Amino acid sequence: MKNGTMRAVGVFPRRREVGLLAHAAPRMQSPTDVRIRTLEVGICGTDREICSFAYGTPPTDSEYLILGHEALGEVVEVGPGVQGLKPGDLVVPSVRRPCPHHGCSPCRVDRQDFCFTGDFTERGIKMTHGFMTEYFVEEDKHLNTVPQELRDVAVLVEPLTVAEKALAQVWQVQNRLPWHARSAERGAGKTAVVLGAGPVGILGAMALLVNGFKTYVYSRSPEPNPKADLVNSIGAKYVSAQTVSVKEFAGIVGTVDLVYEAIGVASVGFEVLKILGLNGVFVFTGIPPHKPAIPIEADTLMRDMVLKNQVIVGTVNADRPAFEGAIRDLGIFKQRWPRALSAVISGRYPMEAHRELLLGKATGIKNVITIGQ
Ligand SMILES: NC(=O)c1ccc[n+]([C@@H]2O[C@H](COP(=O)([O-])OP(=O)(O)OC[C@H]3O[C@@H](n4cnc5c(N)ncnc54)[C@H](OP(=O)(O)O)[C@@H]3O)[C@@H](O)[C@H]2O)c1
Ligand SMILES: [Zn+2]
Ligand SMILES: [Zn+2]
Repeated sequence: MKNGTMRAVGVFPRRREVGLLAHAAPRMQSPTDVRIRTLEVGICGTDREICSFAYGTPPTDSEYLILGHEALGEVVEVGPGVQGLKPGDLVVPSVRRPCPHHGCSPCRVDRQDFCFTGDFTERGIKMTHGFMTEYFVEEDKHLNTVPQELRDVAVLVEPLTVAEKALAQVWQVQNRLPWHARSAERGAGKTAVVLGAGPVGILGAMALLVNGFKTYVYSRSPEPNPKADLVNSIGAKYVSAQTVSVKEFAGIVGTVDLVYEAIGVASVGFEVLKILGLNGVFVFTGIPPHKPAIPIEADTLMRDMVLKNQVIVGTVNADRPAFEGAIRDLGIFKQRWPRALSAVISGRYPMEAHRELLLGKATGIKNVITIGQ
């Protein structure tokens, strides 16, 4: 840090620019604040979309927004009111911060992932600076402690929370079935289909396998390809949508109890919805850009939903239990599939590489910017 400033990667929406900038080093303001040195920040489609100016809003007093919402950091200083954190601890921050409205019951009980007003803010996305910078300050309640032995993979905690929150909802839905197993292996004897072999899909497949599901990953690229190899190496089965139609896929998988969609292409999602089984749950996580309307077999889908007791659930953002679950499950993944898990991180780059990573062609699985050592 020079002259009280630090390096950051930010986006200037008005000027339509993305670049390195000097940002004032953050100060501790409340007794429960924690100062954190950023170690790593993952890059995802959301960051790339913000850099195409599709969305992303700077704080009201800033012309730029510091990017980055998938972070791992090391605590350097804690306020006098902080309990349970000390310098040297590894932490992963959550992303969403509550809206200010008194009447918003989720935000008032730290469940801003279900905010009713939409006036929440999100670090690195909406009206609050992100973590693609050398230091940040955060209230202790938005931080999740990570064991030191997960340091090399902990940048994957935030993207894994998508699956953790999704599965928490799946269990709640399936508690409608009185015989539904409430044991650790709640997917035993059941079949899950993951759509997409990006980081959200692969981490989702790992979570489904750990929960005992027989797991298929239906994605675009034909085999052989590194994502398919990774998926097959963990005991799931990769099937390419380019070589196997949804109809043929249905013949391969048999009864589908759960679909975890992580593509963001509605035509694929609704086609696969047609093969969801009796009492099945379909989770949408993908966020498609606005596009012209497409035809879907709405009557068939509606008829099936009713006659097959199906549930479709959309999910976004995550609560504290989802972060804690992700940290616990990353530990399990690391024990079970150490090579596959580290291969999800396809590259580590310095901050200077931000332009290629954010504006260039999407490559690899999860690319990470290393900021501190
Ligand atoms: N709900 C949430 O909280 C949340 C959080 C993060 C991300 N997301 C969303 O989740 C989705 C997945 O994220 P990600 O980071 O894993 O994305 P990603 O890296 O872009 O991966 C997408 C995967 O889908 C596959 N795919 C793309 N088009 C396809 C098609 N037409 N048919 C079959 N497969 C297709 C891709 O295949 P190839 O391997 O051949 O490229 C790739 O494997 C995105 O829509 C993202 O916006 C949601
Ligand atoms: Zn992300
Ligand atoms: Zn709210």
